[in-house]
Amino acid sequence: MTVLVTGGAGFIGGHTVLALLDRGETPVVLDDLSTGTRAAVPAGVPLHVGDVGDAALVSHLIREYHIEGILHFAAKIGVPGLAADPLDYHMANARKTRALLQAAVRADVKHFIFSSTAAVYGNPDVVPIPETATPKPVSPYARSKLMSEQMLADAGMASGLRYVALRYFNVAGADPKGRHGQSIPGATRLIKVALEAALGRRSHMSIYGFDYPTPDGTCVRDYIHVSDLAEAHLVALDHLRCGGASRVLNCGYGRGYSVKEVVHAARMVAGTEFEVRHAPRRAGDMASAVVNTDNLSGLGWKPELNDLPTMIEHAYRWEQGLAASGPLRQLRLRLLDHTAKAGDARRPRSTKPIPHEATDLRRTQSGPQT
Ligand SMILES: NC(=O)c1ccc[n+]([C@@H]2O[C@H](COP(=O)([O-])OP(=O)(O)OC[C@H]3O[C@@H](n4cnc5c(N)ncnc54)[C@H](O)[C@@H]3O)[C@@H](O)[C@H]2O)c1
Repeated sequence: MTVLVTGGAGFIGGHTVLALLDRGETPVVLDDLSTGTRAAVPAGVPLHVGDVGDAALVSHLIREYHIEGILHFAAKIGVPGLAADPLDYHMANARKTRALLQAAVRADVKHFIFSSTAAVYGNPDVVPIPETATPKPVSPYARSKLMSEQMLADAGMASGLRYVALRYFNVAGADPKGRHGQSIPGATRLIKVALEAALGRRSHMSIYGFDYPTPDGTCVRDYIHVSDLAEAHLVALDHLRCGGASRVLNCGYGRGYSVKEVVHAARMVAGTEFEVRHAPRRAGDMASAVVNTDNLSGLGWKPELNDLPTMIEHAYRWEQGLAASGPLRQLRLRLLDHTAKAGDARRPRSTKPIPHEATDLRRTQSGPQT
């Protein structure tokens, strides 16, 4: 069955495209390449460069490919500590999701999987956070995601569309086979920042806040491996295909790691020290953010990569691949994008983000085992 993957050239969407392919599905990608890359879309997968808010384009794709379900990743993602351009978030996330939903409902698409965020909970009263917790988003990004969830619920009540909104926090790691990872420059995510520091691509990294009410004073987060998260999307899709009701489901491991623990693990995996500076707390950062994932497990989701060293190790291999070819690789990707945008039908399908076929990363890992 053919599914439309919006944002399928990005980090999580790209991994989900791989997971779909791995089990013999037929994904079609719609992405404006604002933060994604063409090279992230595997050979043979149609990539349509365009805006998810372009209802005419979406309607055309649904008709052309007989789309049965939509996995909606495309968004302007939340930047920790920043509340810049709040209305941009509402335009990029809520308003464009509304346009996409309208096109889906009009074309009678049955299944919709939405990338939400556990940031909708705000500062929770109970940790691990159950889905029944009252959402109290504290950022424009989280509010834009909650609005999208509410639109989904309304659309679901008024049509035959059934949906799963997946709420996750910190997504980390990279494809264990080295096919995809996080490539966007100017990263703000902790593990990527730590590994960039380990590889000397940053002079240092900062830890924001040492006085939180957590065991070591730094923020605690529920990190999830991106490949396990991709599988969660497939489990959600299967649930809908089997006639399951619309759901809102947390994704995570139900276990938190502090910033200090992540930095320590990054040093161990990379086998190197790097400078860590103390910085004041950032506005909007919660002390502890860990979700209860019993409901997702109840649908048959079985995470396989749920430990911090594995997540960091896979991300490290990916970063090493980026660092190895660094500016040259970036230039090559830009040239390939430019060529394809100029209308060259021969798309750069042979380009793979990492030129190795490592399946057992522990054997080839250069840092100490943890
Ligand atoms: N990364 C995380 O830790 C995290 C946590 C919670 C939720 N999420 C959500 O998961 C989704 C994917 O995040 P990601 O980390 O893969 O980000 P990403 O930036 O790597 O991927 C987003 C993709 O969407 C595309 N895109 C953005 N706006 C678009 C538009 N208007 N039309 C078409 N394509 C567009 C981008 O080019 C990119 O390929 C987002 O919805 C994000 O809010 C991410």
